[in-house]
Amino acid sequence: MRLDKLLEELQFGSRKTVKRLIRGKQVTVDGIVTLNESQNVDAQLQMIKVKGQLISHKTHVYYMLNKPKGVVSAVSDASKKTVIDLIAPQDRRPGLYPVGRLDGDTEGLLLLTDNGQLGYQLIRPNKEVAKCYEVKVNGLVSAEDCAKFKDGIVLQGGIQCKPAKITVLAATETESHVFLTIQEGKFHQVKRMVQACGKKVTDLERLSMGPLTLDRKLEIGTFRRLTKEELEKLTIFGVEV
Ligand code: URA
Repeated sequence: MRLDKLLEELQFGSRKTVKRLIRGKQVTVDGIVTLNESQNVDAQLQMIKVKGQLISHKTHVYYMLNKPKGVVSAVSDASKKTVIDLIAPQDRRPGLYPVGRLDGDTEGLLLLTDNGQLGYQLIRPNKEVAKCYEVKVNGLVSAEDCAKFKDGIVLQGGIQCKPAKITVLAATETESHVFLTIQEGKFHQVKRMVQACGKKVTDLERLSMGPLTLDRKLEIGTFRRLTKEELEKLTIFGVEV
């Protein structure tokens, strides 16, 4: 990749700012000052420094994907399209993976990275990362159901869930629309919680995970890099990026 493009992508500033840094002799490649902004570089193989600071910590990628239905949250699959297939070939990296999983028929916020540590830090069981979902249900979510969610639903088989936050946006005998925030990531958790109330999820979308919120401008099936502010939020949340 071109040096100026790489530094811009790594958020050292606009293309103009980056060119100024290079012309100001602030950038070295393998120990040698470079004035060639169009020089082709590989941040994985070369030692690139800006103002004496190695940029390797900035070379991981972090993508926000607005996952569509019909795509599996896996790195590879013999027959189904995966979330990695939605990443433009030039933006794929060795080791790129989805942090946590959404079911094939769930859409919404999914974080992808090639930083192997991050997944562990963000989704380890005792980390209690709040995940908010917009859920459509095929029946009335009653006050009694809401009380169960708030107390902690007991799934079929006796598995106890932690208390969840629920806000009912609309509820009729045939359909309800709720926001649900859970702190855990049990397999098919939202669907099983709703099932424990005798109803079925008909539509599920993840809106947030920890400090990250789905960018509504991101069309379904598209992705973008996390912004500097989003990376900072992850750091404040206790996740090393
Ligand atoms: N809970 C579910 O049931 N499915 C998802 O995809 C995410 C949470």
